[in-house]
Amino acid sequence: MADNQSTPHADLFDLSGKYALVTGGTSGIGMMMARGLLQAGARVVVSSRKADACAEAQHLLSEFGDVQAIPADLSRHDECRRLADLVKAGSERLDILVNNAGAMWREPLETFPDEAWDAVIDLNLKSPFWLVQALLPALRRAGTADDPARIINIGSIAAVHVAESPNYSYAGSKAALHQLTRVLARELGPQHVTVNAVAPGPFPSRMMASTLDALGDTIAAKAPLRRLGRDDDMAGIAVFLASRAGSYLTGTIVPVDGGIATTASGT
Ligand SMILES: NC(=O)c1ccc[n+]([C@@H]2O[C@H](COP(=O)([O-])OP(=O)(O)OC[C@H]3O[C@@H](n4cnc5c(N)ncnc54)[C@H](OP(=O)(O)O)[C@@H]3O)[C@@H](O)[C@H]2O)c1
Repeated sequence: MADNQSTPHADLFDLSGKYALVTGGTSGIGMMMARGLLQAGARVVVSSRKADACAEAQHLLSEFGDVQAIPADLSRHDECRRLADLVKAGSERLDILVNNAGAMWREPLETFPDEAWDAVIDLNLKSPFWLVQALLPALRRAGTADDPARIINIGSIAAVHVAESPNYSYAGSKAALHQLTRVLARELGPQHVTVNAVAPGPFPSRMMASTLDALGDTIAAKAPLRRLGRDDDMAGIAVFLASRAGSYLTGTIVPVDGGIATTASGT
């Protein structure tokens, strides 16, 4: 199809024949995105540390399509390379990489430990970089000028506005990931790979469970759209960014937050 022709609506979001990796796809936002990609027709690999979580996720997600789960501790460089090798064993072309696995550490300024920097930066910032490095040949093989390969980094609105909780290394890691997204987008665009980030607002997940149990109603009541995020919001943005519909975006940070950070007044 020539570039200036329009695509039938249904095909705009079709991911049939695409191969995707979603890190941290066994839970929360990663699982919401993996489900969306599967329903749009992609073959998906999900990954996280725990073998039992992987087995459970593969079981749950298999209802929606062809999914495989591979355990790996992505806070370690060698584990990122091992996962990349296993993903490449499934296909020499990777169409979609979702760097979603992440960790948060909340502790007051006075007692915030070294470990809270190392653990969070390793997983939230270095690991997406290591995976891009290891998977770049496969992404380059998949991308074309008309239909680039996609890297989707999961940032946070904690790097867009200032959250009330003490999350120094988390906010710093996500701000750095947003900028890394732009840096990589500029370099990889000419190689037919787009790089975008999603900055979620509050979504129910293991990471957010205690916050939302205590404050979920208050947060929802203050949000311009008067609710928390839900599964379809994340499935939708993943499919958009991964499909033909999203093929002309790169270097963007897309807030999916019900207006919480995007309309913050500062007072
Ligand atoms: N939920 C929100 O409101 C929200 C808002 C903004 C941004 N985010 C971002 O969204 C992403 C997903 O978070 P979530 O809220 O969905 O949390 P979650 O439910 O706790 O999911 C985190 C996922 O990452 C995996 N993971 C954790 N450490 C890992 C490691 N060392 N190696 C590999 N996988 C690891 C976890 O599985 P295992 O424990 O089995 O490893 C799990 O699958 C994170 O990057 C987070 O910062 C979330």
